[in-house]
Amino acid sequence: MTSRRLFDKIQGITISHVTKTYGSIYAVRDVSLDVIGGELLVLIGPSGSGKTTTLRMVNRLIEPDEGSISIDGQDIRGHDPVTLRRNMGYVIQQIGLFPHMSVRENIGLIPRLEGWTRDDINARVDELLSLVALPPEVFSGRYPQELSGGQQQRVGLARALAMDPPILLMDEPFGALDPILRMQLQDEFAKIKEELGKTILFVTHDIEESFKLGDRIAIMRDASLDQVGTAYELIFHPESAFVADIVDANKKYKHVDTMCVGDVAYALDDDHLLDGRMDSKDALSSMHEHDIEVALAVEGGEIIGLVNALSLYRDAQGRLRDHAFEPLIFDANDSLPAALSEMKAHGIPMAVVTSRDGQPTGIISMNETLLRLV
Ligand SMILES: Nc1ncnc2c1ncn2[C@@H]1O[C@H](COP(=O)(O)OP(=O)(O)OP(=O)(O)O)[C@@H](O)[C@H]1O
Ligand SMILES: [Mg+2]
Repeated sequence: MTSRRLFDKIQGITISHVTKTYGSIYAVRDVSLDVIGGELLVLIGPSGSGKTTTLRMVNRLIEPDEGSISIDGQDIRGHDPVTLRRNMGYVIQQIGLFPHMSVRENIGLIPRLEGWTRDDINARVDELLSLVALPPEVFSGRYPQELSGGQQQRVGLARALAMDPPILLMDEPFGALDPILRMQLQDEFAKIKEELGKTILFVTHDIEESFKLGDRIAIMRDASLDQVGTAYELIFHPESAFVADIVDANKKYKHVDTMCVGDVAYALDDDHLLDGRMDSKDALSSMHEHDIEVALAVEGGEIIGLVNALSLYRDAQGRLRDHAFEPLIFDANDSLPAALSEMKAHGIPMAVVTSRDGQPTGIISMNETLLRLV
């Protein structure tokens, strides 16, 4: 019997007033959090602050005492836990590959239980191994003990992706790796996460990892949620000394004061100019292909607005021009902190940069900027 596909497309997760206690200890206390469909939301905080417990309540490995969690507006208690888990990838630090199974068997396990044909399983395993940068011809026949820690972690990720679940839960997936390997896997994951097109809840201790990967970051402290926001918001508008300390705001970002917009802008090239009349889906493919987060929609030589890959991704209907929004425009010599503040004030995380004669020469994105500065 094959289990049902519960969610057909990218889904958001709504966590509402959830509490979990063990005896007199609150593991999680009145946590409410909306994970937007298609985003990667990072949960970060000290050891014991409730991150893992929060994550495990989403796939019902732990049941909350109070509150509810819903996906696509449906309470997850309405779903059979096993079916629910097959619709969510789960990646943990000690990945737990089955030692007596080859890499191919480990990754193909759930598809096999779901009754896929051998050819379909093999094709899927090859595809996933390539995705996580392990050539199938080299690795598919190996056993877990014949892999390095980083390779095991990649296989674990591939296994979690086997059924192409719309939601991915990741609990310190790179935490056990040495720093260099961790950085390498982070970089690779940052590249594939957009093309994966999943809603991802990602636990880490590592603030740089959260800046690199997170669309938004939720900070947990003492079983509660402290502040949720983009890296920019947490760094420049921490609501508490605790948050400022975690993001290390004062020490790291001092040098931003003296920088100007041109220092961090991306040079604009032809790939960034898209015809406003083109189909949104085609525009999105083109942006993915060129690894572009932001593009300019143009018609007849005129800029009609900025477009953002993430928002297109969430809703690629109609023509590109329908998704264009009026850009903020800065001169390359404008002060960077002033520009970032203005972007923040307008709630627009990206802007066009022009040269002295007013010609657009670049694009600046708030989050990308922060990443370049850490
Ligand atoms: N099964 C359990 N029985 C008793 N207490 C528990 C249990 N599971 C978790 N706790 C407690 O709940 C709190 C939150 O634990 P949790 O594992 O969610 O923390 P965490 O933020 O993931 O920590 P870490 O960063 O160390 O992984 C801790 O104080 C922990 O000791
Ligand atoms: Mg944990």
